[in-house]
Parts: sequence; C-alpha cells; structure tokens
Amino acid sequence: MQKKKTNVRLSKYVVPIKYDIKLHPDLENFTFGGTEVITVILLKDTKEITLHSKEIDIETVRIDKEFSQKITYNQKAETATFVFDKKIPKGRHALTISFQGILNDKMRGFYRSSYVYEGKVHNIATTQFEATDARRAFPCFDEPAQKAIFNVSLVIPKGKTAISNTLPISKVEHEAGFEVVKFAPSPKMSTYLLAFIVGDFEYIEKKSKGGVLVRVYTTPGKVHQAGFSLDCAVKVLDFYEKYFDIKYPLNTLDMIAIPDFASLAMENWGAVTYREVGLLVDENNTSLGSKQMIALVIAHELAHQWFGNLVTMEWWTHLWLNEGFASYIEFLAVDDLYPEWDIWTQFLTYEHGVALRLDGLLNTHPIEIPVHHPDEIGEIFDEVSYSKGSSVIRMLADYLGEEDFRLGLSHYLKKHSYKNTETIHLWEAFEKISKKPVAKMMQNWTGRGGYPVINASLERDNLILKQNRFFLSSISKKKANDKTIWQVPISLSNSNKTQKLFLSVEKKLVPSKDFEWLKLNQGESGFYRTAYSKELLASLYSPVLNKVLPPIDRLGIVRDLFTLAEAGVIPTIDALEFLSAYKNEDNYTVWTEIASGLSRIEQTFGKTSAKSNLDKLTINTFTPIFQKLGWEKKESDSHTDAFLRSLAIARLGRAGDKKIIDEAKRKFASSKSIHPDIRSAVYTIVATHGGIKEYNILVKMYKEETLHEEKNRIGSVLGDFQDD
Ligand code: BES
Ligand code: ZN
Repeated sequence: MQKKKTNVRLSKYVVPIKYDIKLHPDLENFTFGGTEVITVILLKDTKEITLHSKEIDIETVRIDKEFSQKITYNQKAETATFVFDKKIPKGRHALTISFQGILNDKMRGFYRSSYVYEGKVHNIATTQFEATDARRAFPCFDEPAQKAIFNVSLVIPKGKTAISNTLPISKVEHEAGFEVVKFAPSPKMSTYLLAFIVGDFEYIEKKSKGGVLVRVYTTPGKVHQAGFSLDCAVKVLDFYEKYFDIKYPLNTLDMIAIPDFASLAMENWGAVTYREVGLLVDENNTSLGSKQMIALVIAHELAHQWFGNLVTMEWWTHLWLNEGFASYIEFLAVDDLYPEWDIWTQFLTYEHGVALRLDGLLNTHPIEIPVHHPDEIGEIFDEVSYSKGSSVIRMLADYLGEEDFRLGLSHYLKKHSYKNTETIHLWEAFEKISKKPVAKMMQNWTGRGGYPVINASLERDNLILKQNRFFLSSISKKKANDKTIWQVPISLSNSNKTQKLFLSVEKKLVPSKDFEWLKLNQGESGFYRTAYSKELLASLYSPVLNKVLPPIDRLGIVRDLFTLAEAGVIPTIDALEFLSAYKNEDNYTVWTEIASGLSRIEQTFGKTSAKSNLDKLTINTFTPIFQKLGWEKKESDSHTDAFLRSLAIARLGRAGDKKIIDEAKRKFASSKSIHPDIRSAVYTIVATHGGIKEYNILVKMYKEETLHEEKNRIGSVLGDFQDD
C-alpha cells in the first residue's frame, strides 16, 4: 500500500456541540437543499473555521451575525474553510450554513435509490455516511471523535415516510403539499452514524422486553418478508441488554431494507439500514443459509449500537475495535438464539479461516494501522479488521474465560459511554477485571501483520514447540524474513487432559508418558496453524477417524494440512493420505474445509490429466455423505445438514458424477419449484455442464426476478459455463 502522507485531521480548536439541520430532498430532480446551525465552541480567537464538505455548494455562511466573505475549498482534504473579516472570540457561537447538493447515484452520502412497484419506478432518498461521507450531505466536522447532538428536520412530500435516528416530535404543514418532520434530539454521537431516509415504506413493529419499539421497514409489497428479522432483532436486543448490562440507549430501533445499498448493512444509531438480502425473508424462496446470514447481520449491527455507537473509536486506525468485535459477538448472540445452529463451528470457516488465509500473505497489514485520507480509510474495511479482528478477540475471550470477558466489556462500555477510545482502553478494562497481562499478550496480534505456525515434534521424550511466521508462499517467507515472536496461548489436549501454557520463542515439554495422541490449539481458539511431525500427525489419525476429537479440532487438523501442502511445507500426498481419516465425517463445517482443500488442489491442476483423477477422489470422498443425506430435506435433518446436502451435491456434480448431474438437470427442467436450500447447487451443476440453451434460460430468469436473493443465486452461476 502506497501511503499518502497528507494529514487530513481537522484542527482541535473548533468543537461542535450540536447540529440543527433541515434538509429538503427533491425526489424528482435528485437534488437537496439544506440549512444548518452548528453550535460550536472555539477554544481560541480565530478568523477561520475549517470543516468537511464534499460535492456540496455552500451558499451562505455566518457565525452569529457575521457573514463570511470568503469560502475556500480543499478538494483533496475534502474541506471548506470559512474566513471572517473580524476575529471571532473564543467561546460558544452559532455557525449557520445554507447549501445545495445532489442526491447522487453512488450509494454514499445522501443518495437516491429506486425500485419498481406495480409497474412504476419509485424513488427513495437515503444515506450512507460511514466512513467519511456525512460531509457529502451537510458541511460537518466529520471525524468519529467529534461527537455532537443532532436535531434533524426533513421537508418531505405529504404522505411519504421520513425516518431518522430518533422518533419524530412534530409534523408541520409546509408549502405546496410538503410537511416538515422534526425528529427528537439524537444522543451525543459521531457524524458517521447519522441517517435519514425518505420514501414510501410499509412496516411491522414489536416491543422488546425492555420496552424498545422495534420496527422493520420495506418498500411497498415486501413487508410480509419482514417477520423473521423483527423477531430476531427483538431477541437480540434483549440478549445484548442483559449481556452488556446496559440498556439500549434509545427508545426505538428501526431497520430499513433499502433497494440499492453498497454494503450489507449499516449500524446507524436507531435506524439501521440493510441491503434487502440482509434483512428480508421470503418463506418460499429464502434458503436456510440466507436466514442464518440475516440473523448474523442483525446481531452484528445491533452489537454496534453499544460497541461502536455508544463507545466509538477515536480514529479509524482503531476501526477493528468496531468491526472485529461485532464480528465476534454476532456469533455469541446467534448461538444464544439458535443453539441448534452449531454457529461457533461455522465461525471457524467464515471468520477464522478467512483471516488465516488473507493474513498468510506478504501483503497483509497489521490490525491497527495508521490511516489518513478517506481512500485509505475505505481500504481497511477488510478481512483483517473484521475476521482477524474477531478471531483474536475469540482467542482473548478463551484466555480470559467467559465471565471475565463479559465483565471486562461491560466495564469498558460503561466507562467510555458517549466517548471515544483506542485499542488500549479495551485491554485496560480486561486487565482491571481479570488481572491478566492482556496488553502485553495482544501487542503483536494487533500490532503486526501475520501469525505464527507452531512446529510440534518429539525428540526422545520431549515435546518441542517452536514458532515462526507463517506464509502461504515460500517466496514470501524468504522475502519477508520476519522474526516476529507472538505470545501464543497454547492448549495441548490428549486423551486424558488439557494443558494450557504460553509459547514465546521455544518450549521443551515432557508430556505424560501414556498419551495416545496430542492435539495443539484445542478448539482452534488460537490464531495460528500447527505443523505436526509425521509421528505426531500419525497419532491423530485414529481420534479423527473415530471422532474422539470434537468437530472444530478435526477441522483444524485437515485445514492446516491442506494449507501446509499449499505452502510447500509438506508434500500434498501427506494431506491427501490423511483425508481417509475423515470417512466417517458428518460435520458440515469440517466438510467445507475438506471441499475447499480439494478445490484448491483442483485449481492448481487446471484441465490436466491429473484433474480426472482428482475428480474421482472427490466423488469417492463425497458419495458416502451424499448417500446418507439424499436430495430431499428430511425431518431428522440437523440445521447444518441442509448446507451439507447442498455442498455434497455441488461437489459431486462439478466433479462429473453422472447421476447427480442428470438429477440436477431433471429438477431444473421440471415445473416443480426447487427447494431453496439446494437451488444454488442445482444451478451451478446445470451451468457447469450446460450450453447455450441453459444459459439463455438462466439469463431470462435473472432479468425477470425481483427477489434479490434469487437474482444473486442465478447471477453467481453465470460464470460457471464451460462453453466459450
Ligand atoms: N459498519 C459496517 C458497514 C460499512 C461497511 C460501512 C463498509 C462502511 C464501509 C457494518 O457494521 C458492517 O460491518 N456490515 C457488514 C455486514 C456484517 C454482518 C459483517 C457488511 O455490510 O458487509
Ligand atoms: Zn460492522
């Protein structure tokens, strides 16, 4: 990453306290007009005030009664500077600004979204401010630490709905069929969490145990898809209130499905916005996987209402606090709501595994990284902040224990409410509660890129553990020559007991004589990989085969083997031979790792003759589990069996299993609707083995589809066709 050195922070001597903003969006011409009064405190006398503003025409500016005669813009820094003739004395002042802007089509700032309903196009005006786009909607001090109170008023056509962070407190007639909706003052908060939405909406509502009014908004005709999310949100809210021991700070929580949305969801305080696939469930067409994803998304955004909104990072360098934490705790909440979902095992693939892969590259970056310009800030909403962040938090939670972890969080949130923090403040809270050296242990996990691989071997009666930084490529390893040493919490389990210790440079241990096998990183709670010597690996064969080891540990072993092979540390054949230990495997997440290990080898082979042997191996590997599950959903299915069935079908089909291909084609051609849980698998097989006829059918289906989830399902297989 090329670093831009420009310092883009605003000066500290202008402190915004309160914004009174009035905005008038025009849903036909896609413009908006606005006025705002920012109450500021000047910490010194000054003739100049600089704040953020981007793609906004500022018309007039005055401080108290004094108009500014000169407004200059710095496009690179995204600021406007107001120069006054006379010095403004330090103290409290009212800065009044009027301006004009465009409801853009960039899905950032104040933007327009549209949808078709009953054959007509309808428009919505909506916002997305994180990270640095509040400045596109109104001139403001657009940094997370510049918290203020917001009083929002929206001028809207009568009959439309206006939503913002708080509830409306008044509606007053305005000229020409418009009305002014004024919202209650917001809590003291960062600019990036503000939201306003204007359009035609329907909603359903429910009260949480704690008395919070929760509502889900959709565009007309979709509100019947909101029930699952509403129930989920109410339960999640109750869960967090109890878990953090802090009441949800507002009296309403709105969740709004927006037809055009850049990410999946955004945690605006009290007005969480979503892409439709992140919120809406169509009972006939939504797969169980999507439902599970929706629950996780909701749990993630609601976690931010405390962790992020109530307590906010001082600067974007500490973004990972927000995103890493929310990406961890969403699993805790969903596990509480749906214990039968086996969600923590899935964490291993969707967070931990993703992070280990990205962070094994030379071009990774530390979790905490200096960022300046908005372009750089945008770059760190990545898998390092989210998935490595959530994984190192999980490692820490395991080290602290559940109760100290929860108490530490609660202490942190209470202590820093309505304020801003850096990473160290969270460590201090955990240290205070647990009396453990958290900051020291965590230093290199957040301060350095990458992670270690632990080499475990036996020398006479000693177990030798050594660490060095892991790279997915041996070339990278040579190039980096990285000597970082991590404080690695190691848990060693064997048939009799578990032993916990810390590894820094190297350890020699005398394991109890009678162990039959030794598994490092119990529960894969540590953020590292393990490379066993041949003899230690051999000892793990039977506990995997007999499923003496729990699913997460079985998963860790096979994943590390495939990855070590990929990195050139061990021969690929070693990984493939060990695979036979999984012939009784029945856990979905373990299977996803086996599947992805095999398909990475497949990618290496491309269309060589080895590919057909690999296809045979894939078919042999997946046939037994498919035969157990079959094509149809069963009463006796566990939650994840639905995913496993679809995985097995897709793998077998892609590997050329004739029976599977024929059945997928038959299902596709039949007029009977395909169960949403296997629809993706059927589509991918049909596309992989299809021609122009199937292609045309899928394209037609894609164009006619209105449910975003189904559209994505179809769209994502269009690249699977093999015919040039
Ligand atoms: N704060 C983010 C939304 C966001 C993402 C804003 C990128 C600006 C840039 C939100 O909390 C989030 O993380 N959303 C995720 C989904 C979540 C379940 C991981 C997303 O949209 O992908
Ligand atoms: Zn988030």
